[in-house]
Amino acid sequence: MIVVPVPLADRPYEVLVGDGVRHELARVIPSRARRVAVVTQRGIGVEIDPGREHRIFEMPDGEHAKSLTTVESLCREFSQWGLTRSDCVVAVGGGIVTDTAGFAAAVYHRGVDVIHVATTLLGQIDAAIGGKTGVNLPEGKNLVGAFWQPSAVLCDTEVLHTLPPREYRSGLGELAKYHFLGGGDLDALSLEQQVAACVAIKAAVVADDEREGGRRAILNYGHTLAHAIEIAGDHDLRHGEAVAVGLIFAAELARRLGRIDAERVAEHRRVVAAYDLPDSLPVGLATSELVGLMARDKKALDGITFVLDGPDGVESVTGVPVADIEAAIGAVRSEGDRS
Ligand code: GLY
Repeated sequence: MIVVPVPLADRPYEVLVGDGVRHELARVIPSRARRVAVVTQRGIGVEIDPGREHRIFEMPDGEHAKSLTTVESLCREFSQWGLTRSDCVVAVGGGIVTDTAGFAAAVYHRGVDVIHVATTLLGQIDAAIGGKTGVNLPEGKNLVGAFWQPSAVLCDTEVLHTLPPREYRSGLGELAKYHFLGGGDLDALSLEQQVAACVAIKAAVVADDEREGGRRAILNYGHTLAHAIEIAGDHDLRHGEAVAVGLIFAAELARRLGRIDAERVAEHRRVVAAYDLPDSLPVGLATSELVGLMARDKKALDGITFVLDGPDGVESVTGVPVADIEAAIGAVRSEGDRS
């Protein structure tokens, strides 16, 4: 087991990484909690034992279940059961569960303790770490939420072996991202070490900028085009697969802006290929649509803002010219795609 501290000044906590760490749950639940509300989904199939009175609350599957309606249902069920302010919520699942249950925990009784048992690679190296919780509105993803740090996070690498291959691959897109945030040759490590290394990078960034006043935005490396691809439609790319294309796009854009050289772009392509992730856009996405969506992205604060690699590492860059963006989109088109 590897223990990664998240050194927040006012609410430090630990992330436990390794095969079987879900069995540490009873030990990490705050001692004042008499009851534990376990929020999960039917298909997750990861058994946990909170070691005290508990009840399972199932939420529906799918991104549309990440809603205020689900939060209301959970909070009403918590209340009907008698969950008190000193009790605890345990979220068992991927990002949809930890985001939704984390937000329910943040608002129920104005905040109760929450522990995440992250069951997907994406959840273990991103969603469950760092205290971002929230739900979607019909108007957009993650538009309502709160920063609510967990008391602990358990990243049980044993459960990753049973993930559907596409789900696992989606996590690899986020893993690829960390190569460029100081992770280096992550592919040479064991799965447990890879997860712990990514968590440690994220923990350091979050400790430095918990509420995304600045540096935390680097965790969105590769995400601006990825979000546009996801919104643009029904293209059957999972989030991490879209991030992989977004990483290459970001490298091509950074090269056009003179921030990195061709060798660094090739390194991005090598890392994405090493994880067998897609390196080009789904066919048929119009450049104008992608640019329009990226300009509307909630992270576009001043002109079009991108998180880009450069001589000082990955950082936010504002006011990127549209001509360079269009050229970089061209560089991630597959042969014959003239959309
Ligand atoms: N997923 C990006 C962040 O937690 O800031």
